[in-house]
Amino acid sequence: MERSGHIVSDVRFEHCQPGHTLGLPYDRPRLSWKFYNVDSAFRQAAYEVEVYAPSADTGTTLLCCRKVNSSQSRLVPWPCDEALISRQEVSVRVRIWSCHGSSSSWSQPVIFETGLLTRADWDCQRIAAPSMPPTAGPCAEQLFRRAFWLRSRVRRARLYVTAQGLYQVEINGQQIGDFLAPGWTNYNHRILHQTYDVTHLLTGAPEENCIGIRLAEGWFSGRLGFLGGRRHLWGPYPTVMAQLEIIYEDHSTERICTDKTWLTTAGPAKAAEIYDGEKYDGTAEIDGWSEPSNPTHVFDPAPWREADEKPPLSDTIQIVPDFGAPGTRKQTIAPVQKIITPRGKVVLDFGQNLVGYVRIKAVKGKRGDRISLEHAEVMENNELGRRPLRICQALDQYTLKGAESGEQWEPRFTFHGFRYCQVDGWPVEAPELQDSLVAVVCHSEMEPVGHFLCSDKMLNKLHENTVWSMKGNFLSIPTDCPQRDERLGWTGDIALFAPSAAKLYDCYSFLQNWLVDVVYEQDLRGGIPPLVSPNAFQGVEFWGDPWPCSIWHDVTIRVPWALYVASGDQDILARNYGSMKTWLTRIPRDMKTTTVNRLWDRECFQLGDWLDPSAPPDQPATSKTDATLVADAFLVHNLDLVYQIAEVLGDTEGARVFEAEARATRQQFVHEYISASGRVVSDSQTAYALAICFDLLPTAAQRTNAGERLAKLVRREHFKIETGFAGTPFICEALVRAGHGAVAYAMLLNRECPSWLYPVTMGATTTWERWDSMLPDGSINPGEMTSFNHYSHGAVISFLHERLAGLRCVEPGWKKSRAAPVISGGITHAEVSYNTPYGKVGCSWSIEGEQFTLAVEVPPTTTMEVVLPTESGERTELVKAGKWTFSGRHRPDRAWPVTPISKMPWVEG
Ligand code: BGC
Repeated sequence: MERSGHIVSDVRFEHCQPGHTLGLPYDRPRLSWKFYNVDSAFRQAAYEVEVYAPSADTGTTLLCCRKVNSSQSRLVPWPCDEALISRQEVSVRVRIWSCHGSSSSWSQPVIFETGLLTRADWDCQRIAAPSMPPTAGPCAEQLFRRAFWLRSRVRRARLYVTAQGLYQVEINGQQIGDFLAPGWTNYNHRILHQTYDVTHLLTGAPEENCIGIRLAEGWFSGRLGFLGGRRHLWGPYPTVMAQLEIIYEDHSTERICTDKTWLTTAGPAKAAEIYDGEKYDGTAEIDGWSEPSNPTHVFDPAPWREADEKPPLSDTIQIVPDFGAPGTRKQTIAPVQKIITPRGKVVLDFGQNLVGYVRIKAVKGKRGDRISLEHAEVMENNELGRRPLRICQALDQYTLKGAESGEQWEPRFTFHGFRYCQVDGWPVEAPELQDSLVAVVCHSEMEPVGHFLCSDKMLNKLHENTVWSMKGNFLSIPTDCPQRDERLGWTGDIALFAPSAAKLYDCYSFLQNWLVDVVYEQDLRGGIPPLVSPNAFQGVEFWGDPWPCSIWHDVTIRVPWALYVASGDQDILARNYGSMKTWLTRIPRDMKTTTVNRLWDRECFQLGDWLDPSAPPDQPATSKTDATLVADAFLVHNLDLVYQIAEVLGDTEGARVFEAEARATRQQFVHEYISASGRVVSDSQTAYALAICFDLLPTAAQRTNAGERLAKLVRREHFKIETGFAGTPFICEALVRAGHGAVAYAMLLNRECPSWLYPVTMGATTTWERWDSMLPDGSINPGEMTSFNHYSHGAVISFLHERLAGLRCVEPGWKKSRAAPVISGGITHAEVSYNTPYGKVGCSWSIEGEQFTLAVEVPPTTTMEVVLPTESGERTELVKAGKWTFSGRHRPDRAWPVTPISKMPWVEG
């Protein structure tokens, strides 16, 4: 058999990211791989997978080997007959045959290990601090420790941990693990657990070792929710479960499990809360608390008591391995300047609005000195702008031990959204403040997949700001804002942002995990998805009774669809299909104004085009566009999507029903909202944007007129934005589809408030919740709901990628793509690329004088349609894998408004 130079690489399990394949929930993980060094004609004809089990004595044992004639290289079924069991470690390698018969060499082996897949795997007790009266305020972190002797040399050791609350583990004094583990889920339904390889941390036998766990309230029992929130929302106190499983060199095993032999005492963090921050008393530290006794440190049992064993968790609560997207401390940022405010306060500016906390790298001072770190996103009147934080202290405090050699500290159980940090109480004898503190940026682990750049620096900054807002709001769950007393998983925000999110990071695992709770909570709410998730707690919710609301509850359709388009994985559709169908049946329909009631009930309160810029600061739902029209437009589009989803899933009957329902609902929409000439009720930017993008205008004449009208409205507003949440992702796209690309670009490039670039002119480093979160005079918007870190307006980056840089996915998972840049607005260069399931896809173009050059990169086994401008219009070429360059003459878009805007004859029609 001929051996080709083809290389099979990047073998992956499910959607696991490289380096995150330990302790996962899949018992039959599907496999994917990529090809390198193949030509454009390459096709895979067959693949072979070998699965090995590491064996103690002989190295490895072959578990199964399967050769399959198939061109599929994405998410192929698990090759072995047997499913994996808990704790099972396997190594997998792949090779392929091309359609010419030559084979590749074997890929590098890749390791995968399951976590604890069933409740029965948990032998340990759920432990907590000894009973104490419930606290009205925050309670201290609790320390737990267990010393143990190793019998002989350790071959392999795994630590499985979960908590109702937040935990941090130390083994023999060394901190391990993720940030804010185990993460936030609906704790009444399921709790995530993590798996750590701790083999290297256990010291040789016979020697004493020690495991220590810090436990804090976190989202479980700390204060949560807006308007003051509530404590003990999920339970009265935090609890922890841990199981250290050791396999010795002689094959014998041992388990160290949490139970009442563990000792516990209050820790030095006297309060550790999500909103209010951590208050850590260094003088209360217990030296060597997570270490065994040794010659330099003898364990003092005095402050320690036996841990309380709590009854097992109810059988209805699952303990599941996490999906491999843990919270991480990602990067550090040094302050860029020290500000002394008019009130004499010292404020550090980190130059970037970010999510995480401030680390004290080095400080020296007297025992009992207290340093306060107060966080805020903006300055107002040259002082820390605290008002947008609402009922949230965002305050960390560290009380010094007074160590001769200096000390370091960072909070473990809180996070803040901030650019500025006011530092009070910095000791005079301490080193220079600016050199001693860094900001630590935290978010859930996600692989960056998208890259964008263009010749306009302001647009690049807008793109960068969107990336920062995504990072800041993807911490355990997708949140609305990371700084105030909220940080909840608002469903509408991600329903609209998901297509853009998937262009920046591979967020499949992250959102797949979150959707599990959305579906569970929808079930609890009689089929109506939650407004925020995690949500339900013994019937009491953050937000009243189940109340059906368009867009927010459409999350169950729109997020799985966005993940499917980016990944090509139908599984996410299959898992959520039932939930989508249920939601569609639970939408209350109009019984009054239509003969066959398909449209939304007019009496239903809708959030609609939330935060339309003309809405008064205290009435964010009061938009120019009729909120029921918005709901109905989304309803039609959702039906279109569910129709397509039914087809993808092979549900022929479902597809027939949804296609018919979409057609009938569309007709009623037209009857209700669209005039014969193409005017749309509300006559607003959002109404036209939705009508155009959701194909709600039946005739060509109506489409033309609606497009003209939209362009006119935008011109009349001097290219300023008039859309809220609902219209923002669609307005530029609608203008381009209607043939008014120049108007779209004028809007995109506008810098006056409200516009996408206005925040950039104001020095924004993230995207804002309101178009004018900061007013032009530098004051903060008077609305009580004013965040400077919200991803919703960043949904425009889909337009930057798909239209400006010109690359879009045509077949889900990027099996086919299309390069068709819309060149306008004076932009002379743009580039976009993605790390797709098949490899890198890219498109870049530039204009020099009249010369237009377009370069594309097409991944192996995929195709791309390339749309090129010609004298008479455009032509399309289909290209296969490889790098291709095209050139031609650039014909400038004459529609660009050349007259100064103030002098243009705008006429209201
Ligand atoms: C959040 C929004 C959310 C909205 C809905 C706000 O407080 O920040 O993003 O979708 O409430 O009511």
